[in-house]
Amino acid sequence: MPLIRLDKFICDQGLAARKEVRQIIKAGRVRLDGAAVTAPETKFDPEKSLVELDGSPLGYARFRYYMMDKPSGVLTATRDGKQKTVLDLVTPEMRRMGIFPVGRLDKDTSGLLLLTNDGNFAHRVISPKSEVEKLYYAKVDGLPDLSDCEAFQQGLILADGTRCLPARLELLGGNECYVVVMEGKYHQVKRMLASRGKPVLALRRLAVGGLSLDSALSPGGFRELTETDLCRVFMGR
Ligand code: URA
Repeated sequence: MPLIRLDKFICDQGLAARKEVRQIIKAGRVRLDGAAVTAPETKFDPEKSLVELDGSPLGYARFRYYMMDKPSGVLTATRDGKQKTVLDLVTPEMRRMGIFPVGRLDKDTSGLLLLTNDGNFAHRVISPKSEVEKLYYAKVDGLPDLSDCEAFQQGLILADGTRCLPARLELLGGNECYVVVMEGKYHQVKRMLASRGKPVLALRRLAVGGLSLDSALSPGGFRELTETDLCRVFMGR
């Protein structure tokens, strides 16, 4: 494993901000392989050395993964000068660890949003090549029917000529349906349904891969993913 700075290592644990971490190190509260270290820039190999803060060992848990029930009315962004973002709903520790949303749900879309500080994971979830299905519940203006299901299966061509990968439309009766897509183009589900003359009235994401939204979460609530949850993301429903 490459060498890492002591202050960055401690900061990555989400325990304190970088400035505070430097003060903690300078105060002699951190030991590296049993010896007090007071230089924040000290480099070491986290796989070979033991770091202790106030006598307690620190584990190297660099990557974190969460699910949130994103409420509608909140932006999927890390920050915005004016509007509330999903990052305003998480803890300061999570922000310090560099947590960001995986993909994007529109402001008026609710439901399962993954959050992580692992860029590779985010890329794998988003990339159509990974074939991770995203399941949405939609309420539309109109009555979706079997001809719409067929068109989704064929791969729709949107109003601007964009060609979509084959997707699934499952009828739930009346103006309700499920939509399953593997890609995440801008306003994709809304544009797909609009191209069939059935504009979306409400949209909620229910699952990513085999991972379903935890119904115990309230709007804006979040929880860390378990190992099983993480595996489920890359499994089918
Ligand atoms: N498709 C949309 O149109 N909007 C979303 O928020 C997600 C998928």
